[in-house]
Amino acid sequence: MSIDQLEEIAQAMMAPGKGIIAIDESNTTCKKRFDGVGIESTEENRRAYREMLLTTPKLSDHISGAILYDETLRQSTKAGVPFTRVMMDAGILPGIKVDKGPVPLAGFPGDVVTEGLDGLRDRLKEYARLGAKFAKWRAVIAISDESPSGTCIEANCHALARYAALCQEAGIVPMVEPEVLIDGSHDIDICYEVTEATLRSLFGALYEHNVLLEGTILKASMVLSGKDCPEQADVEEVAEATLRCLKSTVPATLPGIVFLSGGQSDEQATAHLNAMNQMGSKPWPLSFSYGRAMQTAALQIWSRDMAGNVAKAQQTVYARARDNGLAALGQWKK
Ligand code: 13P
Repeated sequence: MSIDQLEEIAQAMMAPGKGIIAIDESNTTCKKRFDGVGIESTEENRRAYREMLLTTPKLSDHISGAILYDETLRQSTKAGVPFTRVMMDAGILPGIKVDKGPVPLAGFPGDVVTEGLDGLRDRLKEYARLGAKFAKWRAVIAISDESPSGTCIEANCHALARYAALCQEAGIVPMVEPEVLIDGSHDIDICYEVTEATLRSLFGALYEHNVLLEGTILKASMVLSGKDCPEQADVEEVAEATLRCLKSTVPATLPGIVFLSGGQSDEQATAHLNAMNQMGSKPWPLSFSYGRAMQTAALQIWSRDMAGNVAKAQQTVYARARDNGLAALGQWKK
């Protein structure tokens, strides 16, 4: 795999008016989501749910790629067609979550660090063989009076850089995701400071590890008021603060930035992205890589009748993709 091919994949992920659907919930997280709507989290139910999402008619109008979980990458439709084949035929790039999740960072109560580097080179080789074109690693940065420590930011960014370098060695585009959590009562200024420090550290680490930025995508969290902050920043403030933070930390050579939804409502996630894309010139395209903000409504509909509501649930998936695709162009209207 050449540098050109990595760049091509990254460009295809950022096709104008398109974004990524994140359906890479681990079995533990998927169980939580299924529990919430009263569905049993069996392998077959997870497979059927992901089939419903991935076979949404015309999904590729607004979706360039989908992030899968290890189990999903190996699954097929009921008719026996591998999901990766369905996706490639539809023009949707298969992606894979490769981190093994966060664990407490020893010595720093409240901080976590993401694991998953051991054996990653071999796993990436297999994922590439199975058809993965890009891979995601999520670092989690929590905000509290004591957190995050500088050590937490540094340890997570170091791991992100090592994972990104390994991805590129395997011909896979890394989607680096340092998520600053929305949980807490902090205000938007604190979120700005933590996000800025994290992104500075991240791009420093990527540079130190010889990661090719032209073949890398950033999956960022927005700069927001903490969920429990009594004063909630409005759409314009969030868009302005997020853009300012990204512009001061993210090199212009990066082919694109996609956002996670991170607990925002569907409408907020769309409105924030739309507002940013209406704010004049930016060095990189801004789009979405939403999980919950793409799926929540569809999961509810599907859970009421798993066999009978497939088309209805898919209409909701399509509508969310269309709205977010329009927001990626700054053309969404409420
Ligand atoms: P949310 O959009 O639900 O935050 O999920 C995106 C994601 O992939 C988190 O890692």
